[in-house]
Order: sequence, then structure tokens, then C-alpha cells
Amino acid sequence: MYEKVIYEISSKGKKGYMLPPQDVPQYEVPEKYLRKTDNHLPEVSEREVMSHFVNISSKNYHIDKGFYPLGSCTMKYNPKINEAMARLDGLANIHPYQDEKMVQGALRLMYELQGSLGEITGMDAFTLQPAAGAHGEKTGLMLMHQYHRGRNDLKRDKIIVPDSSHGTNPASAAMTGFKIIEVPSNERGGVDIEALKNVVGDDTAGLMLTNPSTLGLFEENITEIAGIIHGAGGLLYYDGANMNAIMGYARPGDMGFDIIHLNLHKTFTTPHGGGGPGAGPVGVKEFLKEFLPVPMIDKKDETYTLRYDMENSIGKVKSFYGNFGMLIRAYTYILTMGSDGLKHVSEMAVLNANYLKENLKEYYQLPYDILCKHEFVLSGKSMKKKYGVSTMDIAKRLIDYGYHPPSVYFPLIVEEAIMIEPTETESKETLDEFIKVMITIAKEAAENPDLLHEAPHHSPVRRLDDSGAARNPILKWQDIE
Ligand SMILES: Cc1ncc(COP(=O)(O)O)c(C=O)c1O
Repeated sequence: MYEKVIYEISSKGKKGYMLPPQDVPQYEVPEKYLRKTDNHLPEVSEREVMSHFVNISSKNYHIDKGFYPLGSCTMKYNPKINEAMARLDGLANIHPYQDEKMVQGALRLMYELQGSLGEITGMDAFTLQPAAGAHGEKTGLMLMHQYHRGRNDLKRDKIIVPDSSHGTNPASAAMTGFKIIEVPSNERGGVDIEALKNVVGDDTAGLMLTNPSTLGLFEENITEIAGIIHGAGGLLYYDGANMNAIMGYARPGDMGFDIIHLNLHKTFTTPHGGGGPGAGPVGVKEFLKEFLPVPMIDKKDETYTLRYDMENSIGKVKSFYGNFGMLIRAYTYILTMGSDGLKHVSEMAVLNANYLKENLKEYYQLPYDILCKHEFVLSGKSMKKKYGVSTMDIAKRLIDYGYHPPSVYFPLIVEEAIMIEPTETESKETLDEFIKVMITIAKEAAENPDLLHEAPHHSPVRRLDDSGAARNPILKWQDIE
């Protein structure tokens, strides 16, 4: 197996490039700007560069390679037609400063995408600018703040967040300047209504609901919650990152929500991981439309325009119009699936998750034995107590069997949590194989716990010393002695 880093194959004087003859006047860089020390770049041939990167890329686990049951993060297959469309010259090579008349197709794409997202979620208007889910949350909370400020209702400085919400929710609220009030979950994993009633007041700016929650459960008392928050003058925010659980069946707009964000890089199959780029469009009800970021895309007599004259707008939240490449991919996905296809996605995501849950609950603890949506949460608590095998050990052992581990230790309200999301694109054969492996690992935990403690055994890198790496970070090859 290829085990070298690029510095080890470097040798002095090798070159992997050839520059064309200079056709502009020579310019002498002033002495003060010239570096004085060697930059330590590897010196390799084109052949060596190619082998090096192909070798390390084939060691990497990725969504196209195999099953990736990462709960919450929804690592699902990205159809290749999305990629083909995003690479079309007429879309990939336009410049954001081009005249509106020259980019009518791109504006139409964004306008129609906004319309489709509105139809799917039951919201009246969308901005496509936010670059990620958490960025969408921040944008939504800025809209909330602007709304209350516009009514001179300045004492509303508290955001209510259930303890089963995604961690980005309270973080976004805090970053926007709100105080956070956490409400506990009830025994069915939903919001504790009595606790909610106790904290709602005339200082409530709004409530953020992750639905389905991080337990993978649909909130059973949504209409009651909406009544309580609206009754107190607050707004309702829907974290719709996981819309793939309910598309075609339920719409946040119909449940009483005022603001929602979506994660195109989850539900709408645009790629993510490794830092993005993502896209977290935000949808609002009509009464909040005036606050949306500029520019808005308008259509008049078959002509699309960028509208900036919105005096109550919160302003821009991202350069230009958002991550346009992601918008092309999501638009393609929605058109190729159609409304029936999107509904089927939710059905399959929910069916697959429940199939895994039912088959694994005999071997791992299931804290909430309730019909789940697109994901579910197991607990390794009793296994830890009985055999000293932690959830981390189980996750590491899965690597030996060729799987990307699920999300672990999240959500925080479940001890030794293992959060599994199979997504809709996996076949029954893939799920059965995964079940078999998870059962094998449960047996190994009882019979040979050290096998798990020392896992992974067959990966290019053995178990990492996480705390050593945090305390003594070695960030460069040159720092290794
Ligand atoms: C429910 C939920 N909300 C918000 C987010 C944040 O989205 P992003 O990672 O794009 O900021 C995620 C991401 O995993 C999520 O699962």
C-alpha cells in the first residue's frame, strides 16, 4: 500500500510544471517583498503528483464509495445529473457582475427554485443567499429581530429552544444577541408543554423547533406549541434541515411556522462534507417578506430582475446571490424527482430508518421506542456498563468492516448515543448487511471487548490519540521528529 507523504517522494530539482514563454514585460519584485527562507514545497514530477493524490484519495471514505449512515448530517447519494447540470458552460462560466439581461436563465433558475421550495414547505417567499444551515438560522433570527424591532417591541430578547434541538440553534440565537431558554423533552421525546408554558412571556422573541428533532422524532404537539408561542406574541422558527423526513406529507407553513431554513446539502442532494459549500435557503410567511436580504429576484412579463429597493431588508448575508452551483444542483434534483418523487424520498427514508431500528433494538438499547422519521438514536449505555465497551469503540470497529461510522455522542440527551440515518437511496441488501455487522459487533463486545477497544485494525491509520492530538498538535510534516 502507498504509505508516503508527498515530502518523502520529493527530491531536489524535480518539476511537475512547464510555464509558457513570458509574453508580458518583466517586473522586478521589490527586495522587501521577497521571502528570505526556503518555502519547503515538495519537488516532484507530474507522474508522482498524480500517483500520490490518486493513492490518498482512494484511501478516503466518501459517499460514492459505500454506506454512510451519519445521523443528523444526512450524507446521501448525490445524483450525477446534478453535477452535469452544474458544469454546463452557460451556468458555470457566468460572472455575478454580468448584466441582468445576459443572465436571464440563471435568474429564472433561482426564481423557480424559490417557488418550488415555497411549494414544498408552505412558505410564501425564500432567500437563497445563506451558505449553510446554521447561516440560514442566523438569517432567520435576524429577520425575527427586525420584525420585533419594526413593531417597537424591543423587550423580546429570548429564544426558546428544546433540549432535543440541533446544537446550531442555540448557537445561532446567541450569535444574533438573543438569550437562550432551554425547555426539556417529555418522555416521548417531544417538547414538555407545561415547561414551555412556564417560560413563555412578553419577552419571548420566538421558538426554534428542530423537527424531526435530533432524536429523529416528529413533534406530536406542534399545533399546541404554535398556539402557545403565537399567543405570547413570539414567532415560530422551523429548523427544516431534515425536510427529507416529511416532504410531500407535511408542510411547516401549514403547521403555523413563520420562518424556516432548509439544507440543500442534505435534503436536496447537493454534496457536502469537507467544508462545503452548502446552501441554507430561508423561507418566510408573507408578513416577513419585506425583511428578507437583498437582492430579491422578481419576475415581470417574463423578465427576471434583481430587486434592491427594500428599505426594511436586513441587508445582505452573503456575497452576491448565495452558492449558485448548489442552487443548480438542488433545482435539477427537484425537477428530476417531481412532487411524487420527493414524497417517495421521504417514504423511503422513513421506511429504511425504521427497518434498521426494529432490527437493531434487540442488540442495542433504544431509549425512545417510537416510530422514527429519517433517523433514530440508539444507546450503548448498557453495553458500556456490562462489557466496558464504549460507543466510540463500536464506531471504530465499524471501520474494520468497511463502513463509515454513524454520528456518535449526539444528541447529548442520550447517554452513549449512536445516531443512525440510512437515507432513502440504500437498498434492502445494504441495510441487511449493515444489520448483520452491527449484530456481529454487539456479540464481539460481549465475547472479546479488547477487539473493540483496539479497533480499527484494518484501516490505513490505527486508533488516533484524540487527547494527545489536542494537547500536542503537530500540524506540519516538518514538525514530526
Ligand atoms: C437539524 C439541523 N439543523 C441545522 C444544521 C446545521 O447545518 P449546517 O451544518 O449546514 O450549518 C444541521 C446540520 O447537520 C442539522 O442537522
